[in-house]
Amino acid sequence: NSEVFILAIESSCDDTAAAVLHNDKVLSNVVANQLIHNQYGGVVPELASRAHQQNIVPVIDAALRKANVQKEQLSAIAFTQGPGLMGSLLVGGSFSKSLSLALDIPLIAVNHMHAHILAHFIDEEGYDKPEFPFLALTISGGHTQIVKVNSFFDMEIIGETTDDAVGEAFDKSAKILGLPYPGGPLIDKYAQLGNPKAFAFTKPKVPGLDFSFSGLKTAILYFIQKEKQKNPNFIEENLNDICASIQYTIIEILMDKLKLAVKETGITQIAIGGGVSANSGIRARLKENKHGWKTFIPKFEYTTDNAAMIGIVGYQKYLSNHFETSAVVSKARIQF
Ligand code: KG4
Ligand code: ZN
Repeated sequence: NSEVFILAIESSCDDTAAAVLHNDKVLSNVVANQLIHNQYGGVVPELASRAHQQNIVPVIDAALRKANVQKEQLSAIAFTQGPGLMGSLLVGGSFSKSLSLALDIPLIAVNHMHAHILAHFIDEEGYDKPEFPFLALTISGGHTQIVKVNSFFDMEIIGETTDDAVGEAFDKSAKILGLPYPGGPLIDKYAQLGNPKAFAFTKPKVPGLDFSFSGLKTAILYFIQKEKQKNPNFIEENLNDICASIQYTIIEILMDKLKLAVKETGITQIAIGGGVSANSGIRARLKENKHGWKTFIPKFEYTTDNAAMIGIVGYQKYLSNHFETSAVVSKARIQF
């Protein structure tokens, strides 16, 4: 079956996204970012859901137009069922149900976290696909997980955060430094100009493959408060070094756990995914290949939230006839 066209819709948080795939190739991948949240220092759920309402039709229209695919050619609609903000998920979910009924084509529900992992199976020139089993490190604003991926639909979480997600660690540290939301990309930008060993922050002691990031945030807060008492311009004068040191500590925490996961499972193929996998420090560290691992680093546009990743899971589910009725419901929390 070589003529599958999937329209994929992602609306789990604050980005409204649509993509069209022809089999495992992406024909279009459109994302409308909601800048309205920046002034509030975080995503406001009610505003996110309203913005999805405004964006969803134009974003889907643009995705179909850019792909040069007519609605009538579509084989199925894939949408993000969860996890995410309920009011946001409902917009994409309801729209997908209606469109699948109107076009009389199958409806496919996708787990957002599976999609961050399976994004590696999008057919892209210059990008290899992992082989099963592999380890996935999913790092985003909402999640930090090490997953053992046995097949497309058989995955086990073998480690996860016990408090903040790694994206939150970036964003909360940035907030302490007075940087606007979301601060992760800004820490990355300044870190590239700084000395990662300028300041030392202690790494948390968490047993096994789990993570903890809330202690790091507190350590950074106390450190900044103490230094500012001595020098009110401490942040301004040392911004690059502070960012580089924070980023270095976070990467060390992630690398320590990956090393342990490789040791425990014997699996040396590592794929990263999620918004934080856009981080240039993490990408560089994994590319160094110091440990003899085979690493898979997604194309930049498939790191932060997007619908192409929903589409590739949709394609796999389409091939295995994994469809839903319109009784399917969105879920803020979803069984992995
Ligand atoms: O996957 P994503 O787009 O949304 C969620 O599902 O959460 O991830 C967003 C997170 C934010 O915390 C953002 O600050 C972080 O990814 N992020 C980064 C970078 N780009 C995005 N963190 C560090 N460095 C980056 N370059
Ligand atoms: Zn995400």
